Amino acid sequence: MERTFLAIKPDGIQRGLVGEIIRRFENKGFTLVGLKLMNVSRELAQQHYDVHRERPFFAGLVDFITSAPVVAMVWEGDGVVASARKIIGATNPLTAEPGTLRGDFGINIGRNLIHGSDAIETAQREISLWFTTEELVSWQPELTPWLHE
Ligand code: RTP
Ligand code: MG
Repeated sequence: MERTFLAIKPDGIQRGLVGEIIRRFENKGFTLVGLKLMNVSRELAQQHYDVHRERPFFAGLVDFITSAPVVAMVWEGDGVVASARKIIGATNPLTAEPGTLRGDFGINIGRNLIHGSDAIETAQREISLWFTTEELVSWQPELTPWLHE
């Protein structure tokens, strides 16, 4: 079953949007299989955003993601990687469509509320970076027959 890694960034938590953000993915029908509130080490932040290491915004991004707690999550479901990116919306909240999380709640690219893995291979890398196997819970929601034919 496909899984993705999502992280509510410090701004999402400080603004009291944890429940709202989780609700969007629950409502869609995806299954939560990992969840933790944590302070992020600089090492983890740098590894997570390694692909952006040479970009001018890298230092600020690492500073921000380590500045206050984040909520790290793993969600499961058919097509969850691409679908979660759609629910999240475009990187810049000003151009993100209304109805998406960033479109509804953000205005600044450096305060865009939530991270989502951008591909299945990225998701696998990020899940193993942020979670141990023991921290992930495989379960079958009773709702499954009402979501899938
Ligand atoms: P994320 O990885 O956080 O889910 O965001 P994303 O895929 O939509 O965007 P990405 O290109 O991976 O950029 C990672 C994060 O870096 C910040 N950023 N700032 N100032 C800038 O031009 C700039 N560009 C990107 C954003 O916070 C973005 O989410
Ligand atoms: Mg990205």
